[in-house]
Amino acid sequence: MNTVKTVLELRAAVARARSEGKRIGLTPTMGNLHSGHTALVTRAAQRADFVVATIFVNPLQFGPNEDLASYPRTLAADQEKLLQAGCNLLFTPSVEEMYPHGMGDQTIVSVPHLSEGLCGASRPGHFDGVATVVSKLFNMVQPDLAVFGEKDFQQLAVIRALVRDLNMPIQIIGEPTVRAADGLALSSRNGYLNEEQRAKAPALYRAISVIADAIRSGETHFDTLTGAAKRMLEGDGFRIDYLEVREANSLRPATAQDRDLVILVAAFLGTTRLIDNLHLTKE
Ligand code: PAF
Repeated sequence: MNTVKTVLELRAAVARARSEGKRIGLTPTMGNLHSGHTALVTRAAQRADFVVATIFVNPLQFGPNEDLASYPRTLAADQEKLLQAGCNLLFTPSVEEMYPHGMGDQTIVSVPHLSEGLCGASRPGHFDGVATVVSKLFNMVQPDLAVFGEKDFQQLAVIRALVRDLNMPIQIIGEPTVRAADGLALSSRNGYLNEEQRAKAPALYRAISVIADAIRSGETHFDTLTGAAKRMLEGDGFRIDYLEVREANSLRPATAQDRDLVILVAAFLGTTRLIDNLHLTKE
């Protein structure tokens, strides 16, 4: 596995692979990789012949009071994991390489509606930052397919919409969330939790699982279900950002008639913001 830092080297390496007739798969990440990320690379390696991973902590998607500076950077360990997972090429650009004309003058890709509400409400500009950097990476690599985690459900919806709306010939693959044995969704931010918070954190997945079970049994009073779950989580010491049942494709608030649903939650334990979701289809 080669690691390159410039767009020029990246394009040259991808062009070589393409000239050999290889299908190109892309897995964009921000590094500090765990088994959730390596599952994305493994999936890309199953579906493509040449897998490009990227590690770039994208300043454009962080708010002024968020964890950009403290976001964990663990390149050597990440390289080892990517190699094991079947990655062929790693792109680790600097901020200057990604935004050579500065971020203030950068053209912004903005996906309306899907970027608003949920994480978009508490992280203004976040999805514009994601949509912009992902569009840039798509144009740099021009992959046949790209794999993203379903853990970031809203992000995946935003990326599917941008590819559709901008006519990018890229297949987007969503990969199921990888969980710890106790149910907690793997996330680089879990590393911020102290021992006591880590012990409490699986309650988030338990709460949305209880809601999913109730919906599967025919309950359609979603506000009652989410209200009870919020009270339970608050009792456990969480500060809820949102906990909602939405229609899974449009992400608009769910109605009793919707069949394809997603329960989405974001909550703080101390200063750490955790997100999770559960996608369910009603018979
Ligand atoms: O999910 C992430 O790690 C990031 O949002 C992504 C897609 C790599 C864009 O920076």
